[in-house]
Amino acid sequence: MKYSRIAGTGRYLPEKVMTNADLEKIVDTSDEWIRTRTGVERRHVCTEDQAVSDMCIEAAKIAIEDAGIDVTDIDMVITGTTTPDFIFPNVSTIVQHKLGIPACAAFSLEAACTGFIYALSTADKFIKAGEAKCVLVLGAECITKLLDWNDRNTCVLFGDGAGAVILKPSDEPGIISCHLGADGQYKDLLHYPYGASNNLALAGTESGKILMTGNEVFKVAVKTLGNIAAKTLEDAGITHEELDWLVPHQANIRIIQAMAKRLNMPMEKVIVTVQDHGNTSAASVPMALDVGIRDGRIKKGQLVLAEAFGGGFTWGTVLMRL
Ligand code: ACO
Repeated sequence: MKYSRIAGTGRYLPEKVMTNADLEKIVDTSDEWIRTRTGVERRHVCTEDQAVSDMCIEAAKIAIEDAGIDVTDIDMVITGTTTPDFIFPNVSTIVQHKLGIPACAAFSLEAACTGFIYALSTADKFIKAGEAKCVLVLGAECITKLLDWNDRNTCVLFGDGAGAVILKPSDEPGIISCHLGADGQYKDLLHYPYGASNNLALAGTESGKILMTGNEVFKVAVKTLGNIAAKTLEDAGITHEELDWLVPHQANIRIIQAMAKRLNMPMEKVIVTVQDHGNTSAASVPMALDVGIRDGRIKKGQLVLAEAFGGGFTWGTVLMRL
């Protein structure tokens, strides 16, 4: 088998919804500011006792059904997340066990908002090498648990969710190419500097918050994504006119619009879901893919460019036929 191909997709959003009007009651902001600067109208928020693995399991069940496979067919689980249930065991092992997937390689990847793109690219390599036959790939985030709800610069942007795909071998493309990148020189522009080996006591507390220089993130994101998307198409010998769909990381409507403009893609060919759940980090691309497929816009055989950009900075694209 020369290629890997997506055989099924699924998504899960927590039940609790917070609208911009709800946020107006907590911080000095307005629905108008949030909508015009970010495109976000509402976000879903995990309950206290809901963890990333719980959302992954719900998204995975839908993807498994969609792919028409049995859990026993799965021989690898990869999750892109920066908000795991625990420092260890990793999220994928919890998902594997709770779903009844037979013992197999199961690991998580940490690449902030690019986590799913990194995970999908990794799964593609295992399948192409013949070392996996059916991979459950997840992108999921409980990022609201890291938010300082008093910080209007960040709390209005994010939300929780999980997306899943089943990746299988195929004689036809499938995933055509993956381009990944990262540059740690930008770490201070967007970071959550608390973890197992650094200020652990502050993680998840009111003093430990996401630190972000929003307008600088915006500029580097648009420039970097524009360049990598153009390179992805050039390397594959594909023009932007041939591209059926852009499935971007749902960070902010203005970043998405700027990207579409750089690629000469009309917004009608871009899957936009940011209004419904905000920036869900690693969950955003698989959830947008699932939305586009389920509402009938993305059809089998069509050419899709998925892209993401996140803390680190990290970035990546996956060019594929559905
Ligand atoms: N409500 C009301 N006013 C606000 C809010 C808010 N929630 N947040 C900031 N402001 C104010 C600021 O204090 C500032 O006021 P001032 O002019 O009196 O100083 C004013 O709005 C403008 O602030 P800017 O930061 O210049 O606003 P900008 O137009 O850059 O929009 C935003 C801010 C939305 C964060 C934008 O920079 C952005 O989207 N950046 C990308 C960040 C991002 O997407 N991060 C997610 C992770 S990375 C990723 O996923 C790609």
